Amino acid sequence: MEPQNRTRPALTTEAGAPVADNQNAETAGPGGPLLVQDQQLMEKLARFNRERIPERIVHARGAGAYGTFTVTADVTPWTRAGFLSGIGRRTEVFARFSTVAGSLGAPDAVRDPRGFSLKFYTAEGNYDLVGNNTPVFFIKDPGKFPDFIHTQKRDPHTGSQEPDNVWDFWGLSPEATHQVTWLFGDRGIPASYRHMNGYSSHTYQWHNAAGEVFWVKYHFKTDQGIRNLTTGQAAALAGTDPDSHQRDLRESIERGEFPSWTVQVQIMPEADAAHYRFNPFDLTKVWPHADYPPITIGTLELNRNPENIFAEVEQSVFSPAHFVPGIGPSPDKMLQGRLFAYGDAHRYRVGINADQLPVNRPHATEARTYGRDGALYDGRHGRAANYEPNSSGGPAQTGRPLWGATTVTGATGNHAAPPHREDDDFVQAGNLYRLMPPAEKDRLICNLADSIGGVSPDRADIVERAVGNFRRADANLGTRLEAALKERR
Ligand code: HEM
Repeated sequence: MEPQNRTRPALTTEAGAPVADNQNAETAGPGGPLLVQDQQLMEKLARFNRERIPERIVHARGAGAYGTFTVTADVTPWTRAGFLSGIGRRTEVFARFSTVAGSLGAPDAVRDPRGFSLKFYTAEGNYDLVGNNTPVFFIKDPGKFPDFIHTQKRDPHTGSQEPDNVWDFWGLSPEATHQVTWLFGDRGIPASYRHMNGYSSHTYQWHNAAGEVFWVKYHFKTDQGIRNLTTGQAAALAGTDPDSHQRDLRESIERGEFPSWTVQVQIMPEADAAHYRFNPFDLTKVWPHADYPPITIGTLELNRNPENIFAEVEQSVFSPAHFVPGIGPSPDKMLQGRLFAYGDAHRYRVGINADQLPVNRPHATEARTYGRDGALYDGRHGRAANYEPNSSGGPAQTGRPLWGATTVTGATGNHAAPPHREDDDFVQAGNLYRLMPPAEKDRLICNLADSIGGVSPDRADIVERAVGNFRRADANLGTRLEAALKERR
């Protein structure tokens, strides 16, 4: 045994007893079998077996950083949210960026949307904005989400991601055409987490002091400029540096090059929604800037790396249901589904006390609830009453809803969203294609053909449906894609 080290503190067991030997497990005689009484060995092996928690079912792979949100414009005409009231007001933020489909060890440089999650630690509670780097999404009904994600993950039989599943689902879900056109274009593989925009994608509600309701979409425009990787560059980077995006974010903050984003909102008065040309709560569509011009309201800067990735990034939880006074949900069915799904995921993945962990709990106020106990409860409430109403002066309801009411009519049922005169699954996909410069159009068609070209030769029906959707978006796109596929077959 090495002589006792006099300069370092004593190593202990988890119960705090000094450990005599951390190099040789205890045996019955030299060369004999192990002893169960070796608490250090038993404890180490057992803890190691339990080091992982379930990874996120989507967005498993990600990186995070702390920073500051600063208000730069007066938004009080539209919302009474305290952290947005007053030019110059600063709020601490934690951000997590991610890919969607890959599991925890997957490479960063892949063609996939990027998650753009923000937690604002406001004095009125934590406000989470859980968006992506894409302004739209693949589907518009939450019931389709598990099926969609199954097609993005590994096939139950082959154990690989299968182009047959991916393109079968997209071909049968025409509403995905806009997002798929976006994803296979140049922005489909950002060069880093710093060089991409973020979007709420969904429409949310803002509620002002006079009780008026506005519909709002958030945009986070990168101040670093948009930079992307081509398919070839990404393949090389994914193979040589799987942690490329995570490292880039950490190192840039370490160097003092703090990434920042200009924060903008598009605002629609409540009354416009019913008569807008398409459903303004349809997540597969953007609001054209000519209709609702983006207004700059603030700056987001990331300036502090987490100390411990597991504690602060893996165990971080973001929920679209975490609102603060003055901000609420829209009737977007996808958003409504997410209001349930995230908290449920957190309770399963991190546990019922997830919101009490340092990264997740409010930093600028405290949570005052009557929720108690559960695994790893830290006893923070002491002897305070655990029921309400009570006569012991415990926290009480305010009587003031966080956001404004919306009026609903009609019978319950499995309804599609109410129709608007220009609802259409293809027009914005076609517009996006027609906006692309010729070289990007070429790359889009090449990327699509490479991917669709992976569909099994005996599933021509899948290919035809997929190409059919692009043809409906733009005839030229369809014709060119068909020709590119013929060349590959
Ligand atoms: C109904 C549709 C959706 C459902 C049911 C859903 C469900 C989930 C679930 C269960 C997680 C894992 C949460 C966790 O374990 O902490 C997750 C993560 C995430 N989702 Fe969704 N999702 C949906 C749509 C969307 C959309 C439309 C966006 C973007 C606009 C989005 C962005 C994200 C992001 C960024 C994360 C990672 C959060 C983090 O950084 O921890 N999701 N989603």
